[in-house]
Amino acid sequence: MQFDILTLFPGMFTGPLTESIIKRAVQASLIGISIHDIRAFTDDKHHTADDAPYGGGAGMVMKAEPLAAAIRNVTSDPSKRLRTDEPRVTLRHGTGQLNDEIASTGARHLAPSTLVILMTPAGELFSQRTAMELASYAQIVLVCGHYEGVDERACEALIDREISIGDYVLTGGELAAMVVVDAVARLVPGVIDAESISEESHSAGLIEYPHYTRPANWEGREVPAVLRAGHHGEVARWRREQQLRRTLARRPDLLARAELTPADRAFLATIGWIADD
Ligand code: ADE
Repeated sequence: MQFDILTLFPGMFTGPLTESIIKRAVQASLIGISIHDIRAFTDDKHHTADDAPYGGGAGMVMKAEPLAAAIRNVTSDPSKRLRTDEPRVTLRHGTGQLNDEIASTGARHLAPSTLVILMTPAGELFSQRTAMELASYAQIVLVCGHYEGVDERACEALIDREISIGDYVLTGGELAAMVVVDAVARLVPGVIDAESISEESHSAGLIEYPHYTRPANWEGREVPAVLRAGHHGEVARWRREQQLRRTLARRPDLLARAELTPADRAFLATIGWIADD
C-alpha cells in the first residue's frame, strides 16, 4: 500500500514515520511512504503556495494551482508516479528501483484505487472504522491543509474525502496525516500480528481490557488472581467483563453501536447499564 503525503512542511515527517513499526513496514516493503513538497509545484521564484482570501478576512488560503499539480503528479499517470526522481523527499528505504519495490509489495495486485484526502478540522471524524476502510485502497494521498484553508475549487475538483482527527484545531494537517498513516498502516496485513488487531480497543466497538506482566506483585499491587490461575475460559470471561465495565465507565456512547451478546447485555445490566432499545 502506498501513502503519498502532500505538505508545505516535509521536514515534519522525519521521526514519526521513520521509527518503530512504521519504519519496519517500509523496510519490509509492506507499505511505501513518499512525502512531496507542495512548494516544488509552484512556478514563481518565491514558491508562493498561498494567497489572500477573496472577500477579505484573516489569514491566507492555499492556492489551487500548486496543490492541483502536486495531486495530479501522484495520481494521474502511474508510470510518472513511480519515477524514482519524483518524490522530492522520500522515506522509502532500500536501493532498488521504486517500480520493483512496488511490484514486490503486491500493491499491483490490489485494485488500482486511489483516494485523495484533505486533512482539515472541518472534515468527517476519523475513527477505527475509517482506518479499516482506508486500508483497502492501493494508494492513499493525504493533503495537509494549512493557513485558513484550501481554495474550494481545488477541493471540488480533486479531493475525494475530508477528514478531521478530532474536534480541536492543529496548526496544520501534518500531525493529522501522520495519525492517519499510523492507524491505517498497522492494519495492512503483515505490519503487526492479526491477533493484536482483533483484540484491541475499538475493533469490536469496545475499549480494551487491562494488561499485566511480571512481577505478580508490584509495590503491593497484585495481578488479578484469575489471570494467574491459567483457566482460559475464566480469563476470557474476565477480560470481556473488564471491556464492558471500562466501556460503560469511559465511553458509554460506544455501547449503543457495539456487538453485544445476550450475556454481555445481562452483565451490563448488573453494573447499571440501561439500554436505549
Ligand atoms: N488541521 C488542523 N486541525 C486538524 C484536525 N483536527 N484534523 C485534521 N486536520 C487538521
